[in-house]
Amino acid sequence: MNRINTKHLEALERANQEIDAKKASIAKSRYRLHYHFMAPTGWINDPNGLVQYKGEYHLFYQFYPYASSWGPMHWGHAKSKDLVHWEHLPVALAPSESYDSGDVTGYGCFSGSAVVDGDKLVLIYTGHVDGNLPQQVQNIATSNDGISFEKYRQNPVVDNFPVDGTHDFRDPKVWQHDGKWYMVVGTKKEGKGKAVLYVSDDLKDWTYKGVAAESDGSQGDMWECPDLFPINQTHALIVSPMYGTQNERPFYVIGNMDYDQGIFTQGVSRTLDYGFDFYAPQTLVDEKGRRIMIGWMEKWLTKVPSQEFGWAGAMTIPRELVLEGNILKQKPVSELAELRFDYKKLDALEVTEKVTVYEQQESVSEISLDINLNETEASLFGIQLRCSADGKEKTEILLDLENKEIVMDREHSGCGEKGISKAPLIMKHDGTLNLRIFMDTTSIELFVNEGEQVITNRIFPEETSKQFNLFTKGGKVSVNSIESWKLDSVWN
Ligand code: FRU
Repeated sequence: MNRINTKHLEALERANQEIDAKKASIAKSRYRLHYHFMAPTGWINDPNGLVQYKGEYHLFYQFYPYASSWGPMHWGHAKSKDLVHWEHLPVALAPSESYDSGDVTGYGCFSGSAVVDGDKLVLIYTGHVDGNLPQQVQNIATSNDGISFEKYRQNPVVDNFPVDGTHDFRDPKVWQHDGKWYMVVGTKKEGKGKAVLYVSDDLKDWTYKGVAAESDGSQGDMWECPDLFPINQTHALIVSPMYGTQNERPFYVIGNMDYDQGIFTQGVSRTLDYGFDFYAPQTLVDEKGRRIMIGWMEKWLTKVPSQEFGWAGAMTIPRELVLEGNILKQKPVSELAELRFDYKKLDALEVTEKVTVYEQQESVSEISLDINLNETEASLFGIQLRCSADGKEKTEILLDLENKEIVMDREHSGCGEKGISKAPLIMKHDGTLNLRIFMDTTSIELFVNEGEQVITNRIFPEETSKQFNLFTKGGKVSVNSIESWKLDSVWN
């Protein structure tokens, strides 16, 4: 075996030993989620390489196994038959080469994607090394079994940024169209974030096509993790934008892709998720033809209470993307219903002031509320979740009918980051609104009207805070139904 492979194998071996030594104690530690994807140890950020290979779903992720904060990036790896139950696999990529490894902390195998090429599973990723010129290049690694990956000996396959970009040149997303491979890579130049496009016949030899899309001046000065894909008869582009050093909410754009010109023409653009803890989402198309998205359920530059226990970061639940008109709706994948048990239903509830729906609402659960906002004089309808008996700790979901906003308020949610998330309040034509809430021990994902708007936040309340209350201000609101289920743990 040549020197390159030995170095990579040694780096992988070291990472896997670290995981084996720590995973049992971390699995029992505080704040672990029950049905969200987490790494066995350490720090995670972006989902990478989402793909279905030989019938199974594969999820790779930005991973630092040695500590609960960001460090030289590895690619963690897991697979699943149903997108719900995940099996951890050995680390797929570790920094080991001159193009993805260095002497100071800023290096590693940065984000990227995966494709199935014949029998092979191919990862396409950014090698980042602080101090290298250029510091970010694109590489591939190949596997015949979907478990062990060999870095291509002639990496990098794109060894410099294009004329339209700069040193920030990362996060390749590859897909196939009409027998050719296409790749978008995020970059920036002159104050504008961009997705630049390459084309290849074999994943190794790439030709630069030009700028597929760029910021209109208001959409960020750096585009991370661009994902461009066909949906219905059109295309969608997802971007995680940066403004200076700040990462902001990912957005999507519906538009037209001209493969000959290599240009994506932007149409309507909207925020994907109005919460704080949603970044760097990536999609895959599965064998059923579904376009499924998973995001990183955490945020850059925040202190996370679980870090004290040796881990940080999780993934959102997988969400199927469905285009209706020019709205990209996010629907929790139907497989999640496998986790439901203990069904409860309440019908026709008139809410004035405050009612306690359940004293002890299971903190790992799904709740669906159908709310009738026709003819109400109320100015506000509120839901309190994970509320303590004395009412001091709580997370509120508020329908602000005066300002037409849906608010998730985690100012009193416990020991994590605080903050208020807001999304536009748009009722259905019949004046009703559906709220579907996925609660896990330390997260809330709110899907409004079948995923037209979504708000994702991490919260860190006391385990005993479990009350579920409803209240209104200024009038009565009728709730047509409240359905709820406990959700099983996938990690036992
Ligand atoms: C997005 C990101 C990517 C980069 C990776 C590094 O969260 O900054 O642009 O590849 O994280 O871990």
